Amino acid sequence: MFAELPTPPQDPILGLAKLFAQDRADNKVDLGIGVYKDERGEVPILRSVKQAESWLAAHQKSKSYLSSIGNPDFNRLIGELVLGAESDALRRSQTIQTPGGTGALRVAADLLHKLRPHRRIFIPSRTWANHQPLFLAAGLEVVPYPYYDVTRGELQFEAVLAALAEMTREDVLLLHGCCQNPTGADFDSAQWRAIAELLVRTGAVPLVDLAYQGFAVGLREDAAAVALLASRLPELLVASSCSKNFALYRERVGALTVIGAREADAATARAHALIVARTNYSMPPDHGAAIVACILGSDPLRGEWEQELRAMRERIKAMRVQLVANLEAHGARDLQFLAHQRGMFALLGLSAQAVEALRIRHHVYITGSGRINVAGLTPDNVARVAAAIAAVRDG
Ligand SMILES: Cc1ncc(COP(=O)(O)O)c(C=O)c1O
Repeated sequence: MFAELPTPPQDPILGLAKLFAQDRADNKVDLGIGVYKDERGEVPILRSVKQAESWLAAHQKSKSYLSSIGNPDFNRLIGELVLGAESDALRRSQTIQTPGGTGALRVAADLLHKLRPHRRIFIPSRTWANHQPLFLAAGLEVVPYPYYDVTRGELQFEAVLAALAEMTREDVLLLHGCCQNPTGADFDSAQWRAIAELLVRTGAVPLVDLAYQGFAVGLREDAAAVALLASRLPELLVASSCSKNFALYRERVGALTVIGAREADAATARAHALIVARTNYSMPPDHGAAIVACILGSDPLRGEWEQELRAMRERIKAMRVQLVANLEAHGARDLQFLAHQRGMFALLGLSAQAVEALRIRHHVYITGSGRINVAGLTPDNVARVAAAIAAVRDG
């Protein structure tokens, strides 16, 4: 059986990581994979996480099974983080722990498909590389909507509204809660209100991917779109991730929050989501969620985490500003938009040849789509990276 299998295409980001590992240059820079790095270029373990781990090591009494729901404290605290502790929508919401944000998206997709097999999901035309394959694997029909003009560095909001006007109540709309990956371009508040009105009008159900809460402006501000949608709409799904904001990538911590018109509807939706979980991975891994519950449930640890999160956010913003200043110094004056966009990612609008030249001539690794991870820039490498980008743009 296996002997006849063709070799599948390599995941482009993992392929890039392999090329980076093989590159012997000491000044190589990895702006590919989406992880936050500190000013030394390292992916740190947060101090709050280390403290929570010590506490758990001393106090955890059992490694027995929990259940498909995961850690109930984690679920309650994440529900409050995502919707706001004072939100009316909490009452008609249910949260389950999932293996990362990816697990949340997949449980949501399987659930949506199970409830209606011929369902369409509208996704932005520039989006996280795993969205389309994940939704297709779950059996959904994927409909891309226009989102972003790469050359101008601008959201195409009129085109978004026009494309989404044809949605019906059978459809699902995928939205990035904040820090859109890969463009860094988010809807402003007026645009979010227009999206909410469009959802009310069409009856389509939003699925919000909230993978970067706290990386744009602040914890509450970055979940303002979720709060708005929850206040305007009867039903909503939110896939959230603790990979980036708690730097817990490999621990696989995420959550799916379902909001129904009534408390009982959310409970029924959760029961169906739990069947999806049970028949896939049975139960989510515990350690990362236990850490998050420990941090969010303790005022001092939460305070420390919020400070660490603020430091990550501010560093990303500072690197955006420095990148633009350095690009301008090299004559690239049309990329100012990079300084105002949000989160870890930005699209440089480079050709495939320019991306290759960056890698081969300058040892700067970015994805084939021309996406850079701004969080891979440091005060030490930003000038060199800017010079390399300006050089490959000039040909
Ligand atoms: C937009 C988006 N959604 C979801 C995820 C998945 O995150 P996780 O590692 O928690 O599965 C990512 C990860 O990069 C992402 O960028």
